[in-house]
Amino acid sequence: MNIKLHVWRQKDAGSQGGFVTYEAPDMSPEMSFLEMLDVVNERLLSKGQEPIAFDHDCREGICGMCGLMINGRAHGPRERTTACQLHMRSFKDGDEITIEPWRATAFPVLKDLIVDRGAFDKIVSAGGFVSVPTGSAPDGNAVLVPKPDAEKSMDAAACIGCAACVAACPNASAMLFTAAKASHLGFLPQGQPERYERALKMVATMDEAGFGACTNHGECEAVCPKGIGLEFIARLNRDYLRAMLTSKPKVESVGGAG
Ligand code: SF4
Ligand code: FES
Repeated sequence: MNIKLHVWRQKDAGSQGGFVTYEAPDMSPEMSFLEMLDVVNERLLSKGQEPIAFDHDCREGICGMCGLMINGRAHGPRERTTACQLHMRSFKDGDEITIEPWRATAFPVLKDLIVDRGAFDKIVSAGGFVSVPTGSAPDGNAVLVPKPDAEKSMDAAACIGCAACVAACPNASAMLFTAAKASHLGFLPQGQPERYERALKMVATMDEAGFGACTNHGECEAVCPKGIGLEFIARLNRDYLRAMLTSKPKVESVGGAG
């Protein structure tokens, strides 16, 4: 396959970036998208040029590190597929492919295709934990969890923190990610004591980090590689509303849950 790439290159966070075009001849359709970038980088290095910086780790769709906007779609053209699990056979010989970093105020570009997703860590730090004693493993197994709740919790826990939902949202909202992190605890008995305080704290932190409000476009759900559904956003909104009506928040909320 012969491909032409238009890649966002940006020296560092303080520099202005721009697209650079690269010819990428002789690529195998069986290569993953990241392997194709590896080959492009080897060729750049052999010419003494700076390789394209991009995030990756597991290359198995489980770590959430690979985040690329490919032809305007987060993670590229295949549904429920991370950029690292995308293969070149999803493209045609002669295709032109535009590759950009995630675009969101809360995710500043650090270099080329790499953004700082530290804002997600702040949201998790605000409420993605339980502080009640949960005991050892046998104690945990002694706490009965209804099967539907366990399954919903596991569905929410499938979120890999890739941030495609933010990149796809016209408001750069982090509601799908936040809702997944709040829900995987909120469906379990151990997550109940802090359930409503968690909703307040995580939403407040999300707002402070510069993410936009959710206006129900559904783009997040459409690009999520793990199939996290909008139902989790509805649940977080219900928890947030109940917390606002019934508790005395210890944190100042700077906005609604959308
Ligand atoms: S909700 Fe989906 S798209 Fe958003 S961070 Fe989690 S896995 Fe990625
Ligand atoms: S590199 Fe880990 S999910 Fe893609």
